[in-house]
Amino acid sequence: MLIRLAKRSDVKSSEITPKALYLNRRSLIAGAGAIAGATVFGCDSKAELNKGPGKTTKLENVKEGYRKVGEKDALTAYEAVTGYNNFYEFGTDKGDPAQEAHRLKTRPWTVKVDGLCNKPGTVDIDDILKSNPLEERILRHRCVEGWSMVMPWVGFSLGDFLNSFEPQGSAKFVQFETLVRPEEMIAQKSRFEILPWPYVEGLRMDEAMNPLATLVVGLYGEVLPNQNGAPLRLEVPWKYGFKSIKSIVRVSFVEKEPRNTWKAMQSSEYGFYANVNPNVDHPRWSQATERRIGDVARRKTLMFNGYEEEVASLYAGMDLKKYY
Ligand code: MTE
Repeated sequence: MLIRLAKRSDVKSSEITPKALYLNRRSLIAGAGAIAGATVFGCDSKAELNKGPGKTTKLENVKEGYRKVGEKDALTAYEAVTGYNNFYEFGTDKGDPAQEAHRLKTRPWTVKVDGLCNKPGTVDIDDILKSNPLEERILRHRCVEGWSMVMPWVGFSLGDFLNSFEPQGSAKFVQFETLVRPEEMIAQKSRFEILPWPYVEGLRMDEAMNPLATLVVGLYGEVLPNQNGAPLRLEVPWKYGFKSIKSIVRVSFVEKEPRNTWKAMQSSEYGFYANVNPNVDHPRWSQATERRIGDVARRKTLMFNGYEEEVASLYAGMDLKKYY
């Protein structure tokens, strides 16, 4: 991503981080022993998949959901999923979220749903959890910077959630916003403007209604850790990671394409669609290959991150070079 506030420890956006480097980052030094011993589970054993890492509360009544993965798609180690990620509200270094996100209070937490719908309202996260049956969905996650992971998320269909507010026909897009609370999200306090807050993302309505678009509340069978976007985040697995907005407090049905944060920052580099596409390069680096965190060799990036069958029809006839 574009990093305005340079710190000595930042990895340049154009660099692909080798495993040895990320294991050595300051936030992971303490946990290095645990990472070295961490199992990267195969995806074929249900017993292993459901073995939570015991760091947060276990989620009950989680059904088996979508899990179409390839032979080489082992789950990424919990320590890497939770220790190496982007959440700029806590800093620009990939170790910052794990270090700083403990300050975030995820209760009480409400989500305001407004805009072009018949039943707008403000819903409590615990009511959201009660009224949406939870599933474990194993999904690939590809960052625009060239790394990827496979996560066992726990969540539910975004479309089912949105439909309960009865969107009107004039609602063409859905917009999401992250919390702004500088006392807890310490990078929002920075006198340098890292990003304009709140972080905003959006989807076209038909994209949002695709069954793969997921609202996530858990990871590895347990309550979502703060650094991964607790208590509620989006996961849109056929798009680059920046579309998957974290710690959501507002969802709005709108007529016009939302101005998503990264496009607003640098529209020549980040578009609204952000579909994973090995044939359309980022202006500064190729998108043809990726490094799966935990692997040494690079692998080919798949069209729509491997979800072509599920989502290609959404973009029939669209010039994906123009709408990147
Ligand atoms: N959401 C918010 N609010 N702030 C962020 O900085 N970063 C995005 C996305 N969602 C971000 C965000 C980016 S660039 C990526 S790659 C994913 O979160 C990474 O998070 P994950 O590895 O926990 O999925």
